Amino acid sequence: MKIIPVTDKNVMSRRAAEMISTLVREKPDAVLGLATGGTPEETYRRLADDYRNNHTTYQKIRTVNLDEYVGLSKEDPNSYHKYMENHFYKFVDIPADQHFLPDGNAVSLDQECGDYDRMIERLGGVDLQLLGIGRNGHIGFNEPGTSLNIGTHVVTLTDSTRLANARFFGSMDAVPVQAVTMGIGTIMKSKSILLLVSGKSKAEAMNRLLESKTPDPDFPASVLVSHPDVTVIADAEALFLT
Ligand code: GLP
Repeated sequence: MKIIPVTDKNVMSRRAAEMISTLVREKPDAVLGLATGGTPEETYRRLADDYRNNHTTYQKIRTVNLDEYVGLSKEDPNSYHKYMENHFYKFVDIPADQHFLPDGNAVSLDQECGDYDRMIERLGGVDLQLLGIGRNGHIGFNEPGTSLNIGTHVVTLTDSTRLANARFFGSMDAVPVQAVTMGIGTIMKSKSILLLVSGKSKAEAMNRLLESKTPDPDFPASVLVSHPDVTVIADAEALFLT
């Protein structure tokens, strides 16, 4: 794991956007694995600025997202479909049939999970997977205890994850109980991974990740120590440097 310590979230987002836009320019038909949550919001803003100012085109780029809540329609303001539309797709020239998220409303979620992994393989696999980290070390929605080899699957969210995401929904009760997420096995197949970590609330998880020597299912992010190409951009608060 290559750790890039930065002063704050602004610099983290700038560095992340630079890495992503460099890949998009060097490999115009790359497959980007994208993430949601508060952490990457500014990275998407900066990518939108880069598109406007430098005409970085996404016409041949394909994107696949990590996860989606079960039971929310694509139009629900809290769905990750809507998040991606509002934070990224509407600002760049990526064609609508080239960006993908799991369908949390599929009639058969099991079928949807298998189809999602097969679709990623058909695209040629993910070139760069953007990740955030949950306070309990979850990546995507892979909660502690998840098998490290698993593909895309349905998860029951822990109370701590639902509580952390309640800020987007207004109350914890409104947060769905389940989600569809790329599995740790799916994530680990990405050619490279970029993990963003910002803020005091992530310091404990960051510290545990830095101390991880081998993958431990109780702390899903620890699997990253066994991937050959992981970059972590972490700000001072997450690194206990303030
Ligand atoms: C959610 C998402 C993850 C995200 C994590 C951290 O549960 N499914 O992909 O990395 O929370 O979110 P945030 O960046 O808002 O702290």
